[in-house]
Amino acid sequence: MKSLVLAVLALAATVGLARAQDVSEGERSFRKCGPCHSVGEDARNKVGPVLNGLDGRKSGTAADYNYSEANKKAEITWNEASFKEYIQNPMARVPGTKMAFAGIKNEKEIGDLWAYLNQFKADGSKK
Ligand code: HEC
Repeated sequence: MKSLVLAVLALAATVGLARAQDVSEGERSFRKCGPCHSVGEDARNKVGPVLNGLDGRKSGTAADYNYSEANKKAEITWNEASFKEYIQNPMARVPGTKMAFAGIKNEKEIGDLWAYLNQFKADGSKK
């Protein structure tokens, strides 16, 4: 019985660690986006729009950002599934987009990136 309790505790600790790593790995991956995008409380539009509050946000709706027609008409609602599909190849998913980025192919990295981005509420504070 005692060993079972220890095993459960060890498992819980591992799961917690894996989560934390995902977010920090995602933060590292976000450096690829950083030249063009920002997130967080001081985020502002750069070459690309602010990426706060992405979950549930419609494509082409960041305030005061001048989107391409292609992005405005994409009619994507951003969530885990649509983000994961898009980021593999943005220029194929939204033909004519002005996001000049080849994409990320590694599924683990994409998952970590989503975990990182999904922390930020629309006002840039963390959930
Ligand atoms: C070279 C600059 C550049 C890089 C690097 C870049 N982006 Fe973008 N991104 C843009 C631009 C510009 C747009 C606006 C596209 C348009 O209007 O056609 C955009 C749009 C987006 C959108 C759609 C936003 C919306 O409101 O509809 C998402 C999501 C996004 N980028 C995520 C990312 C992520 C995540 C990364 C890093 C893995 C990344 N981008 C890397 C320039 C970039």
